[in-house]
Parts: sequence; C-alpha cells; structure tokens
Amino acid sequence: MPASARFWRRDEATVWRNGEKHLVKGVALEQDDGIEALERYYRMRAPEYDDIYARADDVRRGELASATEMMKSVVDGRRVLEVACGTGFWTHIASEVATKIVAIDASSEMLDVAGQKKLRADNVTFIKADAYRLDEVPGTFDAGVASFWVSHVPKARLKSFLSAFHQRLGKRASVFMMDNFNTPGYGGEFLCKPGSQDTFKLRELADGSKHTIIKNYFDTNKLRYLFAPVSNQLVIGSGTYYWWLSYVTKGD
Ligand SMILES: C[S@@+](CC[C@H](N)C(=O)[O-])C[C@H]1O[C@@H](n2cnc3c(N)ncnc32)[C@H](O)[C@@H]1O
Repeated sequence: MPASARFWRRDEATVWRNGEKHLVKGVALEQDDGIEALERYYRMRAPEYDDIYARADDVRRGELASATEMMKSVVDGRRVLEVACGTGFWTHIASEVATKIVAIDASSEMLDVAGQKKLRADNVTFIKADAYRLDEVPGTFDAGVASFWVSHVPKARLKSFLSAFHQRLGKRASVFMMDNFNTPGYGGEFLCKPGSQDTFKLRELADGSKHTIIKNYFDTNKLRYLFAPVSNQLVIGSGTYYWWLSYVTKGD
C-alpha cells in the first residue's frame, strides 16, 4: 500500500497516512468510472492549467526538454492526430515541425485557452471531440500524440482506446506519449477505491473546489508490458516526475 491511500465507504473514507489509519467524513462517492468527473474537472481547471508548465524547477524542466526533443522527432514532417490536447502546450511545439496537426479535446474551455495562443493557422486545427470516438475526427494521419492522457483512461478501457487510436493513425505511424510517475507529495492525495483497478487523485483548484479524478500510474516495466505487444521500435525515457515514450504502430 502507498504511504498515503484512501478507500471509500458511503460518505466516509478510511485514510492511511504513513501507515496510520484515519476516518474522514464527507467524502463524495463517484458512481461512474470517473470519465464525467474528469471532464468537469478540466473544464474548471482550464484557466489555471498552464501553471504546471511554468514551474521553476530544473529537474522538471530538464525532463520536459528531453520529452520535447523526442516529441519533435516523432511528429517532424508528419500529419498528426493529438488526443486530449488541453491548452495546446504540446500542439504549439509540434506545430513548429509537423506538416499538420488536428488537436482534439473534450473541453471547450481548454480549447478556448489553446485558441488564444494563436498557433499557426496553416497547420493547426483544434476540434472539440471525444478521445473515445476517434472515428468521428476528420483527417488522415501518420503520427499521434497523447500527453498526460493515458493516466486518465480507465484501465478497463485502455486496450480498446489504444486499438482505436492505432486504427485511426494507420500502419507504421509514429506515436509520442508522456505522463506522470507517481511522485509522493505532488499532485494531490493518492486515493484507491475497493473493487476498482483504477487509482485516483484528490485535486483542489484555485477557487477551493475539490475534485476526485482518475489517475493511473505506470512504471517503465508496466509501460513496456502495455506497449511492446502493440508496437515496434518502442523507446521509453524516464525521469523523476515524468515518463515519455515513442513507438511505431504495427504494419504488415
Ligand atoms: C492532463 S490534461 C492534458 C492536456 C495536454 N495534453 C497537456 O499535456 O498539457 C487532460 C485533458 O484531457 C481532456 N479530456 C478529458 N476527457 C476527455 C475525453 N473523453 N476526450 C478528449 N479529451 C478529454 C481534458 O479536457 C484535458 O484537457
């Protein structure tokens, strides 16, 4: 069990902190698989989302620089489908070298922030769309980007998401993904639910609102286990806070 974990029971939760058990009242139960709560959270977080990229922390900056280098080499000269693009942080970087990018997100609020960045109109298109309905996204692609997204996909849906993503990209497409490692003390309290294979984080926004969001973590072994069977040329980079990877979708 992690140093800090929480389990749900009606409006109470049992919380473990550093091996000690505490009972906490007034914890909301989530009945769905977390997808609606996630979308609601990001709608509200949009105005403050980019703060994460402004952290004055040399370790994070160094890891983001390594991930950026990999991402640019993946999308260079390619037609890119970016899933869950958020405020367009990675879209902006990709737009410097990609032939075209269709960047989708479920949140109009996130896309509004992205739109205000006035990225290149000749190769970037933002579309409000669902990552679980990629067949509805227009365009043909030979590269895919999904940053800080797979941690938000329920484990029960991960294989089907990857399969649909790869199908949409086609054979021998290049793919870049990155996400967080579980770093204790960062990103809110770590939560577990009995009977759920997913894990969660308790996040607080600037307005004081609290949100329980799905957040699954993968170490490099799990990443290899997940991606190696469905890809070629898998390369995994890792640091303290983040992992990043690239691969090529299978072809005949
Ligand atoms: C952690 S943010 C990542 C944003 C961006 N990729 C980045 O790395 O900065 C997760 C994003 O997923 C979006 N999202 C949540 N559910 C989604 C869904 N079903 N389809 C598409 N996007 C979704 C949220 O609106 C949010 O912008």
